[in-house]
Amino acid sequence: MTIKLLEDKQIVLGVTGSIASYKAVDLASRLTQAGAAVEVILTEAAGQFVSPVTFRSVTGRPVHGDMWDLDEHIGHVRLGEAADLLVIAPATAHTIAKMAHGLADNLLMVTVLAARRPVLVAPAMDGGMYEHQATQANIALLKSRDVTFVGPAVGRMASGLVGPGRLLEPPELVGHIRLVLGRDGSLAGRKVVVTAGPTREPLDPVRFLSNRSSGRQGLALAQAALDAGASVTLIAGPIEAEVPVGVELVPVTTAVEMHDAVISATTGSDALLMSAAVSDFRPTSAAEHKIKKKSDADEGLTIHLDRNPDILEAVNKLKSRTGFPKITIGFAAETQNALEHGRGKLQRKGLDLIVINDVSAADAGFAVETNRVTILGAADQVDNWPLLDKSTVAERLIGLAAQLLADQRD
Ligand code: C5P
Repeated sequence: MTIKLLEDKQIVLGVTGSIASYKAVDLASRLTQAGAAVEVILTEAAGQFVSPVTFRSVTGRPVHGDMWDLDEHIGHVRLGEAADLLVIAPATAHTIAKMAHGLADNLLMVTVLAARRPVLVAPAMDGGMYEHQATQANIALLKSRDVTFVGPAVGRMASGLVGPGRLLEPPELVGHIRLVLGRDGSLAGRKVVVTAGPTREPLDPVRFLSNRSSGRQGLALAQAALDAGASVTLIAGPIEAEVPVGVELVPVTTAVEMHDAVISATTGSDALLMSAAVSDFRPTSAAEHKIKKKSDADEGLTIHLDRNPDILEAVNKLKSRTGFPKITIGFAAETQNALEHGRGKLQRKGLDLIVINDVSAADAGFAVETNRVTILGAADQVDNWPLLDKSTVAERLIGLAAQLLADQRD
């Protein structure tokens, strides 16, 4: 699936001589599938591990090796200048040392010197080479020149040694690439808080009340806000999915915990997107031990529930005192009279926008990849969006949030 931020981006992927270079094939494939134009440069040593044909097959583009084979005039300058981003993954200690000292003995090094855009380096090296003073000094020097380093991960390396030196996995590398490419986006410098998933209200040590929220829409919102350059705090109830690279995750369980986390995170923030499905009620008290049937004649069990705090109403009060968050977007999962209920919530909760979805439809709402939403603005503007995947809904909503914030500034 394409990723808007990566569509039509020119990425030069430098691959150097590490066994981890096989992972660079997967990275090149993921970037290509996301819509980027990926041109690979292999060093001579990398060519011993993976063939240019492998990369050409997944990128559908030329793969460059020896500087003298380039059949275009000053090709290294073209590669360096045209790229939106230069990624070196895996980067060996040797290549990092050469970068630090400005050497230009192969096509990759010449391209690094000619690059005008960000450079992201993912080291991979075995046997303590990463921790060596020389490598650390070279990395520190390159960081001072605004080169971004990601990883290495700590774990088992090809030699069997365990330590820092493993190349980050391709999905994580894609996450870091998104962070670098998005950093000057429409929410650069903005602090965004997103809530996602269900809450769980304990009945006893093994049971809880909850709902069917998967957190997918919230995760997509967090990713879209990161893609737009925001710093993002994600306050999430129990969800299974991987969280996007770069978010500050605050895991919570109950609605009360979510309330406290939201109040603390929104202080000083620009936007709150409250997509979590918060339980409105909680058992008055959670039993200390597992609730048991008393006898076979037991007819049933009555559970008394208390109201949970309404987090958005609390945020609205906070906003009237402090001015933060500057904008608030709420969500309404409805099964009937969606617009009417949405209007009531927008007013009661003091929202700038409410995203209404009819969760009774099979292709929208909880636990599916798509959503069909109606956007209601504070001035009663209504916009019905067609069926979209949740990441597209998220991108559009983040676009609206950026617009609302920009309007406040004017
Ligand atoms: O009133 P209702 O629960 O339908 O409103 C939904 C919106 O309010 C969502 O944005 C949800 O995250 C938020 N909410 C809240 N605190 C609650 C319940 C819901 O902030 N206790």
